[in-house]
Amino acid sequence: MKHAAQLAAAGLFRERPPRYTSYPTAPNFSGGVGPETFADWLGRAGGSGPVSLYLHVPFCRRLCWFCACRTQGTRTDAPVAAYVEALKAEIAHASEVAGRPRLSRLHWGGGTPTILAPDLIASLARTIRRSFPFAEGAEFSVEIDPNEIDAGRIAALREAGMTRASIGIQDFDPRIQEAIGRPQSFRVTAEAAAALRRAGIESLNADLVYGLPGQNVASLRRTLRRLLWLRPDRIALYGYAHAPHLAKRQAMIREEDLPGAPLRFDLAEAAREILVSAGYDPVGIDHFALPADGLARAAREGRLRRNFQGYTDDAAAALIGLGASSISEFPEGYAQNAPATAAWRRAVDTGAFATHRGHVFRGEDRMRKAAIERLMCDFALDLGDPRLGAGAAAALRPAAEGAARRWPGFAALEGSRLRITEEGRPLTRIIARAFDEYDEAGSAYSMAI
Ligand SMILES: C[S@@+](CC[C@H](N)C(=O)[O-])C[C@H]1O[C@@H](n2cnc3c(N)ncnc32)[C@H](O)[C@@H]1O
Ligand code: SF4
Repeated sequence: MKHAAQLAAAGLFRERPPRYTSYPTAPNFSGGVGPETFADWLGRAGGSGPVSLYLHVPFCRRLCWFCACRTQGTRTDAPVAAYVEALKAEIAHASEVAGRPRLSRLHWGGGTPTILAPDLIASLARTIRRSFPFAEGAEFSVEIDPNEIDAGRIAALREAGMTRASIGIQDFDPRIQEAIGRPQSFRVTAEAAAALRRAGIESLNADLVYGLPGQNVASLRRTLRRLLWLRPDRIALYGYAHAPHLAKRQAMIREEDLPGAPLRFDLAEAAREILVSAGYDPVGIDHFALPADGLARAAREGRLRRNFQGYTDDAAAALIGLGASSISEFPEGYAQNAPATAAWRRAVDTGAFATHRGHVFRGEDRMRKAAIERLMCDFALDLGDPRLGAGAAAALRPAAEGAARRWPGFAALEGSRLRITEEGRPLTRIIARAFDEYDEAGSAYSMAI
């Protein structure tokens, strides 16, 4: 075990830093960014190479208690079909304003995109192809709930060009599944994975979560051993974020049943050990990938990026997020759509964009954003890195020196390079926070580990 006591003294079990999928973080967004700003940024993005596109599908057949994603339950298909119609209109509008740029990455997330019937998948894919043609080597990933997939949907997704399937697993232990309100047999998951492979989907990602009620090191080991039979190319192992004041359904999970921070640390360490000895490369703070996978390669070559979807090897300068609650990232700032499906649809139905809030980069934002991204991706920050922009070496040195002083043994400043040591890696989000100018004392996100 790494120095748990020293890590605890450094704040690992106490602090609640952001996950830094953006900088500044979404709670700092304001109403200053609206549809006109979004259209302006979209217009510029289209002129500078391929873009990425994220589409949000905020529907699920079941609502798992642990889930913090923006989604709503529906038993019928009518709201889904109506949503897809509006989404197609929004895609066509965005394409027109952006000048029909090519796509380097397409991701369907949710919610459960596989709630779409095969004809809806095909119709949505046709609109995308017309509006944002794939660039050479483009990747198209879809989040898949194994309980919500069948041969017809897999065939439609394959036909649409899906290259990667991201399968939601969380944990294989039936006791833990019961505690998080998400029953899912191993057989159903294994059959979904096999069907996707048979259909020619070459890349599989699996989502797991540690820190769930009732989880212990032995149970997580069993889950990981079963996962390894499926040999996914990528694994995301998220720390459970419990915020019932934001995600009301999490109130079904009792706080006292959750593993405390020291056990969460042991869970994360045990998982890392198992996955590394099974041949996976650790990628960033919570991902693992087989060495030949694009994410592992990007991590080795210092090309890893962090965005709202987590880690990516996508080099595009703009990520366009469409659908209710989606967030776009442009070189100029962030723009988020109205979170409620009804409000989003009202805007789209009148031919307008549904931008609701966001952030315009100013001052040292870009430089600090790039610095935090490098720490989250590389566990190191070179103050002279051209991605940080001019003036970073002088502007960020005090924060780098402060980090090395505050976390000796965990962060070291060697010339112009701040390095998070192997032992200090669990503290990465806490160390990145030292570069965050928006962070207010007392602001609490999720547990640091
Ligand atoms: C949109 S969901 C998954 C897609 C699909 N609906 C499914 O359930 O399989 C994306 C992922 O976010 C992760 N996630 C959701 N809520 C979380 C939470 N409270 N803490 C940590 N990870 C969470 C889960 O691993 C989940 O698979
Ligand atoms: S985990 Fe997936 S299926 Fe469950 S509520 Fe969240 S998005 Fe829906």
